[in-house]
Amino acid sequence: MSFKHITIAGSGVLGSQIAFQTAFFGYDVTVYDINDKALAAAKERFEKLTSVYGEYFNDQARAEKAFASLSYSSDLADAVKDADLIIEAVPEVVDIKVNFYTQLGKVAPEKTVFASNSSTMLPSQFAEYTGRPEKFLALHFANEIWKNNISEVMGHAGTDPKYADLVEEFAKTIGMIPFRLHKEQPGYILNTLLVPFLNAAQYLWANEVADPHSIDKNWMISTGAPVGPFGFLDIIGMTTPYNLSNAKAEQGDPIAKLIADKLKSELIDQGKLGVASGEGFYKYPNPSYKEPDFLK
Ligand SMILES: NC(=O)c1ccc[n+]([C@@H]2O[C@H](COP(=O)([O-])OP(=O)(O)OC[C@H]3O[C@@H](n4cnc5c(N)ncnc54)[C@H](O)[C@@H]3O)[C@@H](O)[C@H]2O)c1
Repeated sequence: MSFKHITIAGSGVLGSQIAFQTAFFGYDVTVYDINDKALAAAKERFEKLTSVYGEYFNDQARAEKAFASLSYSSDLADAVKDADLIIEAVPEVVDIKVNFYTQLGKVAPEKTVFASNSSTMLPSQFAEYTGRPEKFLALHFANEIWKNNISEVMGHAGTDPKYADLVEEFAKTIGMIPFRLHKEQPGYILNTLLVPFLNAAQYLWANEVADPHSIDKNWMISTGAPVGPFGFLDIIGMTTPYNLSNAKAEQGDPIAKLIADKLKSELIDQGKLGVASGEGFYKYPNPSYKEPDFLK
């Protein structure tokens, strides 16, 4: 069996991108969200994505065809009635996801495979609510899916590998480079590497061991990387690293508190949110780390 009809549940930042990507690669896509207002907001996102895809793939006609092919529904049973695969991108809130999978398990056809795009939660947290744990796994995408085209395929202990195989194949057919994890891992591959790396850099800075530009320079010269951890934090934006450190600080972690306080007073309170605001650890659009002299 290969998939034909795909339903995307939740049409916010990531759901809309996944839906558009899937339609752009020729699948029959239904977009589900909680009400008509949310679906109207999705349609506006799709209009913007039509230009983004048209430009990125240099094929406006194909992008417009994808836009026109999308179907919408705010009735879950109707949205999933033909679905071979559902990709869930509802908010990152446990209760919302539990509720969603409980409802979905009742109305989806038996054939339907369920995949979650959750960034921080594990399939095993929801498997029992789906009513079909063997057909449930994570398929995780990165923001700006058309160019950051990796997807991570991660089952829980009860996922039947044949469905993970199908989902991995599907990911390839929509232009993704899939990575199959052999077991559950919070943060998948990328964030398991990236989060401790960025935390270490912020610790060196907050503990006044070295300044951000020296830390980046050291990393870039030593490894040949085109960007260091602080250049990377600018790309991510300060809000997410601040929230992560602040949550740990509230649980009593003194190093996280040092980092959160410094991010807030030296960057966030001054409107230095990174690339998006024009300044973070560097100034944009021409950050000094991209200049040839930076590594001298
Ligand atoms: N934003 C990112 O960069 C990113 C990257 C990778 C993965 N994710 C994951 O994708 C998921 C969605 O994140 P997002 O950033 O797109 O969120 P978002 O807030 O932009 O969108 C969530 C959408 O879900 C809808 N929704 C709310 N309750 C619902 C319900 N009960 N049923 C169906 N839809 C419902 C909302 O109306 C909204 O359209 C999360 O699990 C998140 O971890 C996000």
